[in-house]
Amino acid sequence: MNKTFDIGIEALSGGKQIATLPQGDCISRENTPFDAAFAPSKDGKSFYIETFGCQMNVHDSEKVSGVLLARGYRAVNSPAQAALVLYNTCSIREKAAHKVFSRLGEWRTAARDQGKVIGVLGCLAQQEGEEIFERAPWVSLVCGSASYRRLPELMAELESGGRRVMGLDLDTEETFETEVTRRDNPIRAYLTIIEGCNYSCAYCVVPHTRGPERSRPSKSILAEVRRLADEGYTEIQLLGQTVNSYRDPSPRGWNFVELLRAVAEVEGIRRVRFTTSHPNDFTREIVAAVDATPQLCDHFHLPVQSGSTRLLRAMRRTYSREEYLEKISWIRAARRPISVTSDIIVGFPGETEADFEDTLTLLDAVGYDSVFSFKYSPRPNTPAREMPDAIPEEEKGRRLAVLQGRQRQIQTARNEKLIGECFEVLVDGRHAERGQWAGRSTSNRVVNFTSPRENLLGQYIQVQITRSGPNSLVGEGST
Ligand code: SAH
Ligand code: SF4
Ligand code: F3S
Repeated sequence: MNKTFDIGIEALSGGKQIATLPQGDCISRENTPFDAAFAPSKDGKSFYIETFGCQMNVHDSEKVSGVLLARGYRAVNSPAQAALVLYNTCSIREKAAHKVFSRLGEWRTAARDQGKVIGVLGCLAQQEGEEIFERAPWVSLVCGSASYRRLPELMAELESGGRRVMGLDLDTEETFETEVTRRDNPIRAYLTIIEGCNYSCAYCVVPHTRGPERSRPSKSILAEVRRLADEGYTEIQLLGQTVNSYRDPSPRGWNFVELLRAVAEVEGIRRVRFTTSHPNDFTREIVAAVDATPQLCDHFHLPVQSGSTRLLRAMRRTYSREEYLEKISWIRAARRPISVTSDIIVGFPGETEADFEDTLTLLDAVGYDSVFSFKYSPRPNTPAREMPDAIPEEEKGRRLAVLQGRQRQIQTARNEKLIGECFEVLVDGRHAERGQWAGRSTSNRVVNFTSPRENLLGQYIQVQITRSGPNSLVGEGST
């Protein structure tokens, strides 16, 4: 690979996420007056961005960093070193929103004392809007993802001394594209193909925080994939809240499958992943394309949310248990084994013991390789918030533990069957203390392995599986 990366990133679904940006030779701005610290200088201005939430947020932060770097800013690796401190926020559950407000609270007096400019981006920014200035008057910028196209203009306003700069327009048909994207992950490149969401699941803030669905023209997507391949990337992850609802807005009007095939054909690309697929737009053609195209990874993240048709209706998920299971049967009929993972919410208002039991039996019926499970969290501006029959927190906790226990057994049994098999692993990390390398199979399984070889990061290695646990496999790399 002909790139150098000095950035660490830890990404988890919908929860804790910390993106650490590279260390520049920063000048400490501590104790300098606000305006002097932020005024353009020949050294450039320093910034730090912390990211919460999903992969789309992680990638948005990469693009925002690109915009700032192009304006002459320099990334530093701690808020203490930065003149501009940005939080790219999530509001999917109450806990995520809380975390952001507690981070902002840390700047109550320090922002002014240390001459920092504090900005709030992302889903909580969009959801709370001007309210953020009321709760944290030391914040100078509030901007939702649908307004990132306006960032250069908003930055110019900030740089000329603006104290309450806002980008909150949701009424947009634009997507956020920028020539300069600073990618944090040297192994897997994220690439957003569709923004926003046109569904209206009763529990979900995303349509309110990210606006209506907008697909990016296929030509621009392919040009970026080619650029990434030239830079040395071999694995691409296409992103969208409903990635498989993609519809090319340009005259060629490609659907998701046509786009997938074209991305897979780009020279140098060996793995194409995509997330998140909505079951409603999940077709046989998608399964057929993955089955027939080795570069398309053997993995679907197909969140079900509940195994009870009654509850799915209340959640406004637009499919029944039976329809979902039929789609799973298409996947199971493929010639190669394809891994399936899911998201599940427990304790949605009105969820009875029988509904919950339906979710447990669905786990058995599908045989997921991994599940992200959450306690229902009431969110602002969502219909579910007003629904009767709230489930007590304690009961939600009980159901979550039961569900996770059941899923753990399923994963343990599924992974045990893989002992003796051989997987091609793209190496993305190293556990120095354990003397192991780590990577992912095309089915997105975590594989830790030993190897006599060195410098394996970014390489594809054949690994023979010798042991298994519920969440990962262990093996020996080929020599
Ligand atoms: N677009 C994706 C989901 C994005 S949010 C899809 O449609 O599947 C990621 C996950 O967070 C969701 O799948 C859901 O399981 C969970 N989630 C969303 N809103 C929630 C809420 N109010 N309480 C608890 N979990 C929630
Ligand atoms: Fe939220 Fe539903 Fe849209 Fe997913 S499809 S982002 S859960 S509204
Ligand atoms: Fe959170 Fe927004 Fe993603 S609410 S999960 S950051 S779309």
